[in-house]
Amino acid sequence: MSARAFAGPAQAVFADAYPEQPTLLDHGLVDHPLLKLDALAELATRIRPIDAEYNRGDLPVGIDPADTPSNGLSVEETIRSIEQCGSWMVLKFVEQDPAYRDLLHDTLAELEDTVRPSTGAMLKREAFIFISSPGAVTPFHFDPEHNILLQVRGTKTMTIFPATDEALVSGEAHEAFHAGGHRNLPWRDDFAGRGEPFALEPGKAVYVPVKAPHWVRNGPDVSISFSITWRSEWSYREEYARRMNALLRRSGLRPASPKRYPHQNHLKSFGYRVIDKVKRTTGLAGS
Ligand SMILES: [Fe+2]
Repeated sequence: MSARAFAGPAQAVFADAYPEQPTLLDHGLVDHPLLKLDALAELATRIRPIDAEYNRGDLPVGIDPADTPSNGLSVEETIRSIEQCGSWMVLKFVEQDPAYRDLLHDTLAELEDTVRPSTGAMLKREAFIFISSPGAVTPFHFDPEHNILLQVRGTKTMTIFPATDEALVSGEAHEAFHAGGHRNLPWRDDFAGRGEPFALEPGKAVYVPVKAPHWVRNGPDVSISFSITWRSEWSYREEYARRMNALLRRSGLRPASPKRYPHQNHLKSFGYRVIDKVKRTTGLAGS
C-alpha cells in the first residue's frame, strides 16, 4: 500500500515545528485498510499477547498505574465490542507484523529529510494503535519518543504540556522514569491551564515532542489512532544526561537539568556512557 501519509503542506508544517513544537498535521491514511476495526481485530490475535494492553476507559486524568482497573474481557471481545464496552486498548509494537512494519517505515520515510539533519538518524522505529470507546481517557503521562498520532476514526482531544516545565515533571521524576518507572505522571488540577488542547478528527495528526507531558480524552464515538514513533540521537543524549544526573544526585549533588534542543547535552551523556561502560566491563552494572 503506497498511500502517501503526508502531502507537501503537512511536510512544511512539520519542518517548521520539529523537534520541539507540538503541531497539528493533515494526513492521508484515513481509508487505509490496515487501520479498519476488522483488520485490527485480526492483528490483535496475531501479535504477542503481552502487546495487547487494555483496561476500562472511564479513568480519571491522573491515576496510579497500580489502580488501573481491568475490563474483564478478552482482547478479541474488547475490540469487537468496543462501542459498548467502555474500554481503552493499545496494540503495541505492531511493526512485529510485516504489513504494519511496511506501513510504519513507509510513513516515517516521508519525514526523514526533515528529521535527520535536525536530531540525527531515526532510530527504534515503533508503532502503536489505540482503539478506544467513547469518552475514554488516557491519563497524564509522557513518552521518551518523538511521536505522531494520526487520527483515523472518531475524535479525541490531546492536551499537550511544555516539555521544559519542571513544575509539571521534576528532574527527579525524569530520572525515576529512566530508572524503570511508569510513564504515568502525578496530576494536579492546577496543571490544567498550562496545557494546549489539540482537537483531532479523521485526517488530522498531532506531533508530540519527546517527553512533552500529555493526556487524551476521546470524543463521543469509537476512536482509532495510529501512533508512529522514533528515537533520535538527540533524545538518547537527553536520556543519558538524565541518567548521569541520577548518579550525581545519589552523590549528594543537585545537578542542573539537561537543556532542550538545540542544546545537545554532549558532555553529560558522554560522561554517563563512559561510567556505564566501565561498570559493565568491571561487572559492577546495577551497583
Ligand atoms: Fe503518549
